Amino acid sequence: MPRQFFVGGNFKMNPATREAKIALAKTLNDATIDQSVEVVIAPPAIYLIPLQEALRKDVKVAAQNCYFKTNGAFTGEISPAMLADSNIPYVILGHSERRTLFHETSQEVAQKTRAALDAGLSVILCVGETLAQREAGETAKVVEEQLEPVIAALKPEDWSKIVVAYEPVWAIGTGKVASPAQAQEAHLNTRSFLSSKISKEIGESTRIIYGGSVSGGNCKELSTQPDIDGFLVGGASLKPEFVNIINSRQ
Ligand code: G3H
Repeated sequence: MPRQFFVGGNFKMNPATREAKIALAKTLNDATIDQSVEVVIAPPAIYLIPLQEALRKDVKVAAQNCYFKTNGAFTGEISPAMLADSNIPYVILGHSERRTLFHETSQEVAQKTRAALDAGLSVILCVGETLAQREAGETAKVVEEQLEPVIAALKPEDWSKIVVAYEPVWAIGTGKVASPAQAQEAHLNTRSFLSSKISKEIGESTRIIYGGSVSGGNCKELSTQPDIDGFLVGGASLKPEFVNIINSRQ
């Protein structure tokens, strides 16, 4: 079965006001969107519910993070069960900003992934190398090391609820997008790794999306690569060009 193209918009801690987020929802609501694409946007947690209410029903929302416990004395955290209880279908885990700024390890990402799946959520699981790691020829090794604990924590049947986002750290927010060949190579390596560590079927069926300075201008060429199944978009998801990215294959 062909993999469904997936476009996610990660608002990060933007934009500053509720009105601006509702305006973004209106842009999406008024747009003609390729109905073969799964579209998910991830606003800051406090805006998940109002945005979900404001958005057209064929656009889903995702949390940008969650904790691995169900409830308890964990000030500032949101549990996967609470997201599920609020009908939030997706959560982004392991984003490089969580890994670097908030010191999340791949073990913790795996623990959160397990907890999110147990609560019934789907997961956008981010992986990717730094510039120094790429220049040292370690891209595949780094991605594999980030995936290993997740693979160990998941059962084969869990993988239908995982979207892997390959996001080279050097491309995030820098305007230096990976070339289609660079992205394709990393995606193919990642797919081959999933095939060899889990099964050929899971390697073939798991969606692997690209993130890092995706724009209305570069999305079309990236989208033609055989192992690029969509995008996780940061900065451009806050602009009208996000619609062009969603419709990049048209
Ligand atoms: O989650 C999204 C990525 O961090 C990409 O961000 O499109 O602003 O480079 P960017």
